[in-house]
Amino acid sequence: MRKIAVIGTGYVGLVTGACFAEIGHQVKCLDIDEKKIYDLSKGIIPFYEPGLEDLVKENLENNRLFFTTNSSFAFHDAEVIYIAVGTPAKEDGSSNLEYIFRAANNIAKYATKNVIVVTKSTVPVGTNERIKELITMNGLKVEVVSNPEFLREGQAINDTFRGDRIIIGSDNDTAATVIEEINQHFHVKVIHTDIKSAEMIKYASNAFLATKISFINEISTICEKLGANIEDVAYGMGLDSRIGTQFLKAGIGYGGSCFPKDTKSLVQIAGNVKHKFDLLEAVINVNNKQQVKLVEQAMARFGNLQGLNVALLGLSFKPNTDDVRESASIVMTNRLLEEGVSITAYDPVAIEKAKSVLPSEVHFTKDIVEALYLADMAFIITDWDEIKRLPLSVYENMMRTPVIYDGRNCYSIEAVKQHRVEYHSIGRKSVK
Ligand code: UGA
Repeated sequence: MRKIAVIGTGYVGLVTGACFAEIGHQVKCLDIDEKKIYDLSKGIIPFYEPGLEDLVKENLENNRLFFTTNSSFAFHDAEVIYIAVGTPAKEDGSSNLEYIFRAANNIAKYATKNVIVVTKSTVPVGTNERIKELITMNGLKVEVVSNPEFLREGQAINDTFRGDRIIIGSDNDTAATVIEEINQHFHVKVIHTDIKSAEMIKYASNAFLATKISFINEISTICEKLGANIEDVAYGMGLDSRIGTQFLKAGIGYGGSCFPKDTKSLVQIAGNVKHKFDLLEAVINVNNKQQVKLVEQAMARFGNLQGLNVALLGLSFKPNTDDVRESASIVMTNRLLEEGVSITAYDPVAIEKAKSVLPSEVHFTKDIVEALYLADMAFIITDWDEIKRLPLSVYENMMRTPVIYDGRNCYSIEAVKQHRVEYHSIGRKSVK
């Protein structure tokens, strides 16, 4: 059992802290947000993540998990301090490291003994060295370890316990061994590297996954034009074990708090060492086009959208999360409103978060049938089970003109043909 402090109670920090407590460590989670810490100490989770609430409550009860805004309390007995704060993108695409350095300064100020500082946040190559310099300035002996996370929202606990690998980037063997031991109950393969390589593994992994998605999305557009079927093409490609079946699902582009930010940041990182990352720039451009592709198809189909009723089905950037950051729903909504439509938007869990980022003209509903009632067109943005399972007869009977733009290929072409609907999807022939 180790005494651990975790700075930041966002997805990464909270899941990491709760999972460490679950495997027997004593964990103190620190955040500056008093309301959030108050709620968390009562077991109230600020975002939707399956299984997390139970895990937090259970470990609060058995006194292995603590929430605090008090740095002295969090750090005084900590052997290891994890930094898991946000690194949002700046206007120019580079990472804003303000919270990282604030955390490092906080450690320098309040830690009373030598510690191992582990960075979970995604940070540009070289950042851990700067963290070490900042903390060491205060006379503490500190070892830094880069330990990037690879958890996916919606599956974060499963990914922590059953991930593909744990990367431990360190130039100190003792510190690396302590971090490996802390993680040993997860039974996940551990890879040791130097610090810079660990930092780079995170960016390269996310950039590669984003590349797979943009690649398959480009192939899907060509399939549409040639009459091929993207589902068959992706499956046939993916069976080649060198390619792999995962992350070949064509759709309306990637979103979320990671891929858009990390791809832009890696272009910047490369630029800083005078390398123009042409491939990744293309990946980003393809994604930007993909997010508005269906809206442009609708504009071509209807000519003028002024005054039409639009149903948006799904607002989060993927199912099983209420996160709407960089979701295609945002750009699609803005583009559609410019055309003068009325929008009714449905999502099973993300409405509250969506209200803070979507324009006030949007009408929100938790009733999918209400969203479709008298609509002239429907856009499927997120493949929630509730949306995938919706019978096509509901579109047929509820919409004024049942024209469906399915950005997640939720329905088979055979099923669609049984109904009086017009159906446009990604990388497949339209049904009219
Ligand atoms: C992603 C990575 O998958 C994690 O490994 C990583 O730890 C995390 O970013 C991070 O850097 O913190 P996440 O953003 O939760 O995780 O979401 P993903 O499940 O990877 O999906 C990202 C986007 O790609 C979604 O919009 C999803 O709809 C889209 N996607 C994914 C596709 O369009 N097609 C696919 O085949 C797969």
